[in-house]
Amino acid sequence: MKFSHEWIEKNPWLLIGLVLLVISFGGLVEIVPLFFQKSTTEQVAGLTPYSPLRLMGRDVYIREGCYNCHSQMIRPFRAETERYGHYSVAGEFVYDRPFQWGSKRTGPDLARVGGRYSDEWHRTHLNNPRDLVPESNMPGYPWLAATKLDPADVTARMRALKRLSVPYSEQEIAAAPQAIANKSEEDALVAYLQGLGTLIKTRN
Ligand code: HEC
Repeated sequence: MKFSHEWIEKNPWLLIGLVLLVISFGGLVEIVPLFFQKSTTEQVAGLTPYSPLRLMGRDVYIREGCYNCHSQMIRPFRAETERYGHYSVAGEFVYDRPFQWGSKRTGPDLARVGGRYSDEWHRTHLNNPRDLVPESNMPGYPWLAATKLDPADVTARMRALKRLSVPYSEQEIAAAPQAIANKSEEDALVAYLQGLGTLIKTRN
């Protein structure tokens, strides 16, 4: 009986303690190497923090809940890479806080949608997706074109990200309100979409 499996199972606190020990060990073995692997710690070549316009567009994306239907992570499987392009790598998401990987795909993955369509395509599509894809069940977002960004908003957002180690300079932050003056929420969202996943060369 002593030190047998049955004895452990009859001592709930001991069992909980041992379970935690095993899980922590297993977790450490999986997680710790990630801190030292080049592929998970280094950003992809050419990656820069979001420009003020794209940053605002990203916030529109989050506010409108686009992630409820769209993931931004291409898994390393043939079926995915044939359809969407090169699989996503950790170094592409260094400045994504919070990341938009997701797993819900009512619509297609958007991780490499940048450059696939023209700006005009996106504007028409966002206004009413059915004008371009008759069977689409994506909602229209016609108010985005009619709503101007608030230039006063952007500096606080950039400061917050800077505190989280995104390397924005003070000059960049000071110039940001000017850079987004008179732009609509749609301008920002389209700029955001057009930059998605463009740093890793894919097909076509
Ligand atoms: C209710 C689910 C749903 C929501 C919410 C949604 N979409 Fe979609 N989206 C779809 C579906 C379905 C498609 C495929 C049909 C089409 O192109 O309209 C699609 C297609 C797209 C495409 C074209 C992708 C491609 O590779 O052809 C883009 C870009 C896009 N959505 C952006 C957005 C953005 C930005 C938002 C938020 C403002 C959004 N979607 C919200 C369902 C959704």
